[in-house]
Amino acid sequence: MDRDEELRILDRALAHLHDKRLPLTDADSRVSTDRYQSPDWYRAELDQIFGRLPSMLVHGSELPGPGAFVTMEHFGRPLLVNRDRDGVAHAFLNACRHRGARLEQDPSGVRKHFTCRYHAWRYDTDGSLATIPSAHCFPGVDPAKRGLVALPVVEAYGFVWLMPEAAPGRADLDGFLGSFRHDLADLGLDGFEIYGAESQEWEINWKLVVEGTLEGYHFPFLHTKSANPLFENSTFFFDGFGPHLRSILPKRSINFVERTPREERRLLAVANVIHTIFPNETVLHQSDHFLWITAHPLGPARTLVKLRLIVPRGSVESDGAERWEENRALTYQVQYEDLEIYREIQIGFATGANEEHVLGTQEFALRTFHETVDRHLFGAGPGAQRDGA
Ligand code: FES
Ligand SMILES: [Fe+2]
Repeated sequence: MDRDEELRILDRALAHLHDKRLPLTDADSRVSTDRYQSPDWYRAELDQIFGRLPSMLVHGSELPGPGAFVTMEHFGRPLLVNRDRDGVAHAFLNACRHRGARLEQDPSGVRKHFTCRYHAWRYDTDGSLATIPSAHCFPGVDPAKRGLVALPVVEAYGFVWLMPEAAPGRADLDGFLGSFRHDLADLGLDGFEIYGAESQEWEINWKLVVEGTLEGYHFPFLHTKSANPLFENSTFFFDGFGPHLRSILPKRSINFVERTPREERRLLAVANVIHTIFPNETVLHQSDHFLWITAHPLGPARTLVKLRLIVPRGSVESDGAERWEENRALTYQVQYEDLEIYREIQIGFATGANEEHVLGTQEFALRTFHETVDRHLFGAGPGAQRDGA
């Protein structure tokens, strides 16, 4: 964001601080609990949302150089994401073009070639088929037409994005991000690297994870000792950028910002900035580093949650890991406090205690998020009201 916008946001944060009851909206709203557990709802999300939108596969630093690769499951498809010998990022179906064995077994590493362990067909890092043992036995196979199946990817804003087949290019990614891309570009994430990645499967719906980053209402209660001492939770506010959201979570230090001359005030000194990239990615900016949260759906009530700190490139090597380790431990503790609650909420759905949840005015960003989900599933229209608010 530019300097004028930073100052405008600081002014808004101060307005919220001075009038703690300043509402984000004047009405509460309802969301049906069906949307967190119905198999039909989940299938519609896979089809209408995850199947059609760009998806962040890895941060660029997770493929640190030519030949680097990671493997992953992505909505039922095994992917091999890598850099070729020129450093260009690719995503391939991780399936041999002979008889389909999984080509690369390891979760990550560096390879000059990928060799299938079944009959040793060998592929270059750009996916082309390089060698067929006893090639004369395949008189009808043209190696040039038998490379790995490539999926469209774009490397931009520090990440490798898997693109939909129908909208595969950089212009499509920028169209999806809209003006939010300027915020992402300003973060300079390509100058950073991943620290302390953790992945866990939880028996929860993916939307609960996104919701947890969209309100501060729960901080004094759930995060009493961890995050709450650091934040002015009731001053949380947000802006929408198409389907994406940018939320501001002021810290306690906002109370002293007016003692600083206006020209010296810095937003990140007194607030976290939370970038919610629709549908399921959160990049939380904390002063000089980031927490990247991915809620990767595996089922209506099953989600792979990935937590990664994104720290300045080379800082672990130059300054040691101690500072980041301390930060990681506290940051992840807060996330696991949240995840435990989501697990209970998911069990709560099945009890039938609530056919709908009620969202208070401080939880208005959740409503906005659900409306965006609804727009993708049902077209235009006020989603939360669809649930009977
Ligand atoms: S299945 Fe890979 S070489 Fe045969
Ligand atoms: Fe939380």
